[in-house]
Amino acid sequence: MAEISKAIALILMAALVANLALMAGADDDKEIRVRKHKGKKECIQGWECSWWSAYCCNQTISNVFAVYQFENLFSKRNWPIAHAVGFWDYHSFILAAAMYEPLGFGTTGGKLMQMKEVAAFLAHVGAKTSCGDGVITGGPFAWGLCFNKEMSPMQDYCDDFYKYMYPCAPGASYYGRGALPIYWNYNYGAAGDGIKVDLLHHPEYLEQNATIAFQAAIWRWMTPIKKNQPSAHDIFVGHWKPTKNDTLAKRGPTFGTTMNVLYGEYTCGQGEINPMNTIISHYLYYLDLLGVGREQAGPNEELTCAEQEAFNPASSPKTAASS
Ligand SMILES: *[C@@H]1O[C@H](CO)[C@@H](O)[C@H](O)[C@H]1NC(C)=O
Ligand SMILES: *[C@@H]1O[C@H](CO)[C@@H](O)[C@H](O)[C@H]1NC(C)=O
Ligand SMILES: *[C@@H]1O[C@H](CO)[C@@H](O)[C@H](O)[C@H]1NC(C)=O
Repeated sequence: MAEISKAIALILMAALVANLALMAGADDDKEIRVRKHKGKKECIQGWECSWWSAYCCNQTISNVFAVYQFENLFSKRNWPIAHAVGFWDYHSFILAAAMYEPLGFGTTGGKLMQMKEVAAFLAHVGAKTSCGDGVITGGPFAWGLCFNKEMSPMQDYCDDFYKYMYPCAPGASYYGRGALPIYWNYNYGAAGDGIKVDLLHHPEYLEQNATIAFQAAIWRWMTPIKKNQPSAHDIFVGHWKPTKNDTLAKRGPTFGTTMNVLYGEYTCGQGEINPMNTIISHYLYYLDLLGVGREQAGPNEELTCAEQEAFNPASSPKTAASS
């Protein structure tokens, strides 16, 4: 008997030590490594900010945006009436973000700007994946990440115009999927090139793997749609200087302009339309939930794009990335 309890005690001890080692490992991983490179300070922070970059010297996203905050923002996503129950989670978001944190996603500016960028990006995501229209409980902005795909696609979204660059794979269907839903073969092709996943042959990955779905969305946020245009990220964090033409078109370095560059005249330049207002409302709601406060969003002129001219009018020639 004594022998057995001794053995059990030993096993418990061993388990405890292993546990402590694991915890220490996790801490080590978060340690900031610093170097000077060509006179500039650069850092690495474990797997989350994993190559030498000035941005990695700042707090990482998981430092400023915790799992409970993700749960607050997307509190209804796993309710039985939602359409992607069990799919979206915090961990997938952080894993996906890690690919772009060394490039400045959620790591630019100080903590306030970092939290605002996370809120702004997730506001686009929340609005585009919401099933909150006409509901029910929690209010219309509590239902982000309700979908991960278009429910009843009426077509395959295969456009022959791009049959050389991004030919449709046999049997594949390019209906809307993901966190900032992607439609059409050429958009799947471009996003797949961006995140180095073969989405053209495997469009289904976007509805099977939440990390890939978030990666594609963050790629869209971080990448200009056309040459000579800013990314939504550059606009939001103030890394873009509007030209005279931009100023004439009422496009400034604002949240409103992120909607313009991503959706053009489907959302902007049409006055106070619902597709625009719902994105703005998600942003304000998320700022409140994160404890930042909606007053930090700035005045309405910075939120709206109601009077802006579109960067990419639908009438202009298509590019492999406009939707
Ligand atoms: C890191 O954060 C500080 C403020 O805490 C900010 O001034 C600096 O610009 C940030 N670094 C980068 C590369 O954005
Ligand atoms: C999801 O995608 C990520 C990134 O490509 C990959 O590391 C992970 O293994 C995938 N998960 C599953 C369950 O396939
Ligand atoms: C500014 O707008 C005018 C008129 O639309 C256009 O012809 C010109 O090319 C634009 N300039 C730049 C730098 O985009």
